Amino acid sequence: MTQPLIRQILDYDNRADPYPLYAELRETPVLHDGHGTYVVSTYWEILSLLHDPRVSSDRRKRTVQDIYGLTQDGDEGSALPPPFLRLDPPEHDRLRTVTNRSFGPPHSPRRVLGMRDELEAVVSGLIDGIEDSGRIDLVEQFSYPFPVTAICRLLGVPREDEPRFHTWADTLAASLDPMPGEDPTERNRRTRDAQLQLGGYLAELIEKRRAHPGDDMLSELAAGTGENGELSTIEAITTAALLLIAGHETTVNLITNGMLTLLRNPEVLKRLGDDPRTAPRIVEELLRYEPPVQLIPNRTAVADIDIAGATIPSGAALWLVPGSGNRDPLRFADPERFDPDREDIEHLGFGSGIHICFGAPLARQETELALSHLARRLHGPRLLEDPPPYRRNAVLRGPRHLYIGCDDIR
Ligand code: HEM
Repeated sequence: MTQPLIRQILDYDNRADPYPLYAELRETPVLHDGHGTYVVSTYWEILSLLHDPRVSSDRRKRTVQDIYGLTQDGDEGSALPPPFLRLDPPEHDRLRTVTNRSFGPPHSPRRVLGMRDELEAVVSGLIDGIEDSGRIDLVEQFSYPFPVTAICRLLGVPREDEPRFHTWADTLAASLDPMPGEDPTERNRRTRDAQLQLGGYLAELIEKRRAHPGDDMLSELAAGTGENGELSTIEAITTAALLLIAGHETTVNLITNGMLTLLRNPEVLKRLGDDPRTAPRIVEELLRYEPPVQLIPNRTAVADIDIAGATIPSGAALWLVPGSGNRDPLRFADPERFDPDREDIEHLGFGSGIHICFGAPLARQETELALSHLARRLHGPRLLEDPPPYRRNAVLRGPRHLYIGCDDIR
């Protein structure tokens, strides 16, 4: 009986505006679909489950079948072992801690701070290169290429190899967004090929960096590998690939959702163009209002859990819906309003608990730079299509194209 509501969320027709459905969903904070999946849509319950050690991120612990065909990151039948996003403690903590060491502490990630000027130059270069023939596709010309370049610079991929990285990232992103009628076997083959090529490339680069370290994240990861090292080479490869996969489509969508929301709220866009210091609050509110990760469908209960009057049995699949929790009126005043001036924006856009987004400082910096430069340099920008066409993906939600017109780019 409850299945239709879940199906409706996945239905592409509701992609442009899933929020009225979420309001319906929140009437039953923990909704059982009748087949072993429990959908959790209210803020406090999502937060509590994200911090609950009885909730696993390891798919191998799941006993129910995924009848909805949802894969968050195309890693079913992956050519690489599961990355730490898909592991539980103690393995998760060991890998995340080692990786963190080469990133810098969460609140002053030296590597991210040190990349600011370089990323600013990338943003300026991309905007300089926008071809305005009266209809700019911001996704293709800006939001899509920027985050891959950022990850390449973070890892220390040589400039001449960046185009290859872009090709693999394209294939892996396409695997998240199946087109109707596309042959799944063919798509899985392409995804596996891209994973193998990316893995092979990273293995070589790690080898080179171990012999001749540079000042980049891959060199630091490589230094921890080898005999008696903290990381095996395959773990270093999987972790580097995770950074690319987790940091790409998500950031593309935050930048694109961000421009869309700003074009719908021109007074905020103008304020940002006049004063880039307003960017951090705008980005935080965007992560609440239009989070790229709408749904976290990869959790499994590993014990019976009593919550909000329901019992989630051990082995059940959990879908946590941060896109809905972020609009929960029991948590946020006037939640359907985009308001960067709100006092309290403690959103679920980066998740929470032990798996809270590792790349959040980089994602924030990229998006702040991207939106503030676009706001300053695009003159008279306007949406040519509203709502824009969306990608099919219900988990990582965002426009496939964002067509805008403008009077001038300076
Ligand atoms: C985890 C969102 C950008 C790396 C997560 C999670 C969310 C998220 C919701 C938690 C997933 C879960 O609990 O299962 C986002 C958003 C981004 C973004 C909205 C952009 C706006 C990035 C970037 C990187 C990155 C740029 C890499 C540099 C990771 C990693 C994890 C993660 C490695 C796994 C953490 C763990 O399991 O401990 N992200 N992310 N993310 N993110 Fe991000």
